[in-house]
Amino acid sequence: MKPFNHLTDEMPSSGIRKIFELSEHIEGCIHLEAGQPDFRTPEHILDAAAQAAKDGFTRYTPSAGILELREAIARKVTDKNGFRAGSENVVVSPGAVCSLMSTLLALVEHGDEVLVPNPGWPNYVSQMACIGSKAVRYPLDPAKGFQIDFDALEKLVTPETKAMIINTPGNPTGAVFPRESIQRIVEFARKHDIFLVSDEVYEEIIFEGEHTSTGLYNDDGRIAVIFGFSKTYAVTGLRVGYTVCEESMAKLITKIQQPLVSCTNSISQKACLAALGGPQEHVNEMVRVYKERRDAVIEILTDNDLYLYTPNGAFYILIDISGTGMNSTDFSLELLNEKKVAVAPGETFGETTSTFIRVSFSTDTDKLIEGTHILCDWINKKST
Ligand SMILES: Cc1ncc(COP(=O)(O)O)c(C=O)c1O
Repeated sequence: MKPFNHLTDEMPSSGIRKIFELSEHIEGCIHLEAGQPDFRTPEHILDAAAQAAKDGFTRYTPSAGILELREAIARKVTDKNGFRAGSENVVVSPGAVCSLMSTLLALVEHGDEVLVPNPGWPNYVSQMACIGSKAVRYPLDPAKGFQIDFDALEKLVTPETKAMIINTPGNPTGAVFPRESIQRIVEFARKHDIFLVSDEVYEEIIFEGEHTSTGLYNDDGRIAVIFGFSKTYAVTGLRVGYTVCEESMAKLITKIQQPLVSCTNSISQKACLAALGGPQEHVNEMVRVYKERRDAVIEILTDNDLYLYTPNGAFYILIDISGTGMNSTDFSLELLNEKKVAVAPGETFGETTSTFIRVSFSTDTDKLIEGTHILCDWINKKST
């Protein structure tokens, strides 16, 4: 038999999944590795999904998404993100992960290089592998709260560089790029004539400061902004995300989606329409709870001399375990087996964080506090 597609050899296997699968067999395990909200989906969103199903809204939709949803998204982008968009600038996809993939397929070819954050969400590297392009990782500096190291970034550009992915607020860092950084990134993209793919799925989960969308500076059409419903509305399973970009790019992304997915789930689109149009209080409440949890974790880290930085957004924090002399995977496996606490190993996100672990705030507050105490005791025990 001929071999399978060799491009997939470059796809990293998820260290988080490995920990999650092992943890399923451990009774009483405290889960600090999860990457999805632990909140219940608001009732009006569930009602809209049920109503759409009852109404028989179960057929294919346009590949770019139903017009009402694209119009509602365009209004949200204009009002909330602060840059003008019409329905022609919006492509709805089955989750932001698919928005990223179809957008990258529209911009990047086999052999192109794409600048990818290190640490960063592992799926960026997997997507590059599927396309046959090369992920070139640019460092986010742990000593500066995981902000971009622009000097290091500049040195990574080659004639093959075609695009750059940024993620703010960031997973796994929780770092929020300030407006000046966003402007500098856009200038960098213009200077080197590369596309900018800006992953902003955590836009609403901000504890201090504000989220600045790169879309504000899309003067020459080189920027594609990726947003999602999963994190804001606690609907990870509904699978709806969207790209906002210049019209000809949006048309190409739509064309690519036809062979890829045909369209996004019809019922989910109606549910997301209700999410945008309905009350938004639960989003504020979710952010308030995440912040309370973040503060509790920071306090425990400080008491244990393990404080490094304060994440200003998303629902993650990276914790330095270099004092233990262990790599993050071995540390995470041992912590799970010995202490029944599951965390995400930092090396899953890139070599910059091979001696860090990621803790997620998307777990019940008491469990999070208990798990963080156990984690800190374990780091200190292993460091002596
Ligand atoms: C940084 C980042 N981008 C994109 C996504 C994908 O979100 P979605 O559920 O909309 O596909 C995630 C999900 O964890 C993420 O962490």
